[in-house]
Amino acid sequence: MTALPRISADEGDEAVLVVESKSIRETKTWGRRLASLLEGGELIGLIGELGAGKTCFIKGLARGLGLRQEDILSPTFTMIQEHHGRFTLYHIDLYRLETPSLDDMGLREYLFSPGVAAVEWFERLKEANELAMLAVRMSYAGASSRRIEFRAGGPRYRALVAELRRRFS
Ligand SMILES: Nc1ncnc2c1ncn2[C@@H]1O[C@H](COP(=O)(O)OP(=O)(O)OP(=O)(O)O)[C@@H](O)[C@H]1O
Ligand SMILES: [Mg+2]
Repeated sequence: MTALPRISADEGDEAVLVVESKSIRETKTWGRRLASLLEGGELIGLIGELGAGKTCFIKGLARGLGLRQEDILSPTFTMIQEHHGRFTLYHIDLYRLETPSLDDMGLREYLFSPGVAAVEWFERLKEANELAMLAVRMSYAGASSRRIEFRAGGPRYRALVAELRRRFS
């Protein structure tokens, strides 16, 4: 697959990679690319307004983990969905919680599991700024374009972002 254009990144800043996705397919591709680098135990925080593409990205991520992307739904009624593939994927959506904290609903267990936790509306979590995680921030860049920013929170995730850049940008 050809590399997608990187629209900006501070040269030498290994902690951040910004890419532009021009279609649903490209967004899923970035999810798959990320999945290919995961080893289990990662926390991925999806940040971005309604319709930004968080669930779409997680569908690609799921596929990369050997799951059926059709099984990834917007967890409207279920806040936590568990999928078993190469690793267990915990797909969590915090949208409906006012001020969620790690102590709610057993979140701590899911977020620090040997599997992979992908959390939509991660910024709502009370402890959001204290956790080692990979932030995937998505924003509108046109009707069918999205800006995707990968930002490492912590050394482990720095290496991940550096690898994402080395291999795919
Ligand atoms: N480049 C793109 N990448 C991802 N989605 C796109 C893109 N262009 C258009 N879209 C549309 O944007 C919407 C993204 O929906 P999605 O459910 O993934 O968003 P979300 O961020 O999970 O929203 P919510 O906060 O409601 O959970 C879909 O309707 C999709 O068709
Ligand atoms: Mg969603």
